[in-house]
Amino acid sequence: MDKIVHASKKTGGTDCWGTPQKIIQLFEQHLEKPFDLDAAASAENAICSNYITEEMNALTTLWQGQNVWLNPPYSLNKQFLKRCVEMQDHCENIVVLIPARTDTEYWHNYVMEYASIIWFIKGRIKFVGAPSGAPFPSAIIKFNKVERTQQGLQFFFLDIDSIVSWILTNYRINTKSLSIFHTTIVGIVY
Ligand SMILES: C[S@@+](CC[C@H](N)C(=O)[O-])C[C@H]1O[C@@H](n2cnc3c(N)ncnc32)[C@H](O)[C@@H]1O
Repeated sequence: MDKIVHASKKTGGTDCWGTPQKIIQLFEQHLEKPFDLDAAASAENAICSNYITEEMNALTTLWQGQNVWLNPPYSLNKQFLKRCVEMQDHCENIVVLIPARTDTEYWHNYVMEYASIIWFIKGRIKFVGAPSGAPFPSAIIKFNKVERTQQGLQFFFLDIDSIVSWILTNYRINTKSLSIFHTTIVGIVY
């Protein structure tokens, strides 16, 4: 079930928009395990039982999880991406939903330099709590140091609606799901 979120005073709401549950499910399938840390959350919108709140401050506290989900407050994109790079020594996988601001310096310094996979989202995400589709394009970034070292940076285009329904209804996830996932994205979407 989608989560209830609260509007942020700072940005009129965008800092606290929640992630649609189907995105969480899709990326747990990609990892083949559940997320064990939500690195930017409140008690009301955390996607798992282990989470870091604004008061705990994920920008300074250690991330105690191996498979981390992050939908950062969008006023702090740069700071959170920098923190992902710092935390990738402690966490096996960090998956981040973020505006696809490919023109920014921080995108190039942190995403292009350190990420292992980028999925560019087709269309606009309708975030939980948002009045309509996002006014910006989104991307999902994976930081996995081993993957980055072995494979370099990979990128894909992802149509969440068609892929999610197709994977969830047609596949029992098994040890081959990573290659199924990649083939599906490349094959179906573009
Ligand atoms: C975009 S919402 C994400 C909601 C939900 N966890 C999700 O992934 O859908 C960002 C959340 O980060 C929290 N937050 C803001 N600053 C933070 C910080 N420095 N450390 C951890 N969480 C923070 C906000 O209170 C808000 O709940």
